[in-house]
Amino acid sequence: MKKAERYSSLLKEISSLMDKDVDDIANMANMTRLLYDRLSHHWIGFYRVVKNQLILGPFNGPIACTSIPFGKGVCGKSWQDKKTYIVDDVHQFKGHIACSPLSNSEIVVPCMRDNHVFAVLDIDSTALNAFNHEDQYYLEKIVTLL
Ligand code: SME
Repeated sequence: MKKAERYSSLLKEISSLMDKDVDDIANMANMTRLLYDRLSHHWIGFYRVVKNQLILGPFNGPIACTSIPFGKGVCGKSWQDKKTYIVDDVHQFKGHIACSPLSNSEIVVPCMRDNHVFAVLDIDSTALNAFNHEDQYYLEKIVTLL
């Protein structure tokens, strides 16, 4: 299945899965589980903004770093700049935080409400160059479903 087709069906599935009557953590938990099943990447998870830091939220994959300061790592940069980062080779990204030695590329998408970042979605791959603007386009849509 092509990437766009996979994401289109994921968008529908996630949209019907989101529950307006529960908090972000519950919806993030189901969202990461589904993304992990369908996209088969090494690590998929959220970091939430809690008291001026990013704190590990629902995820699937290996154990990860629990907190990331503002502006640090790819996640902290995405939070600071309010923009998606696609990193083709994490070893070339200055300040990258290596939670898993197996990660080689990553995409981090900010989750916004009222122009504020309340979380970031981080996806790591063991492959180099795993993500492109197609992933960015769909993942930015997906996080608006929270
Ligand atoms: N690599 C991220 C840290 C989070 S882990 O990859 C799960 C970063 O540089 O912000």
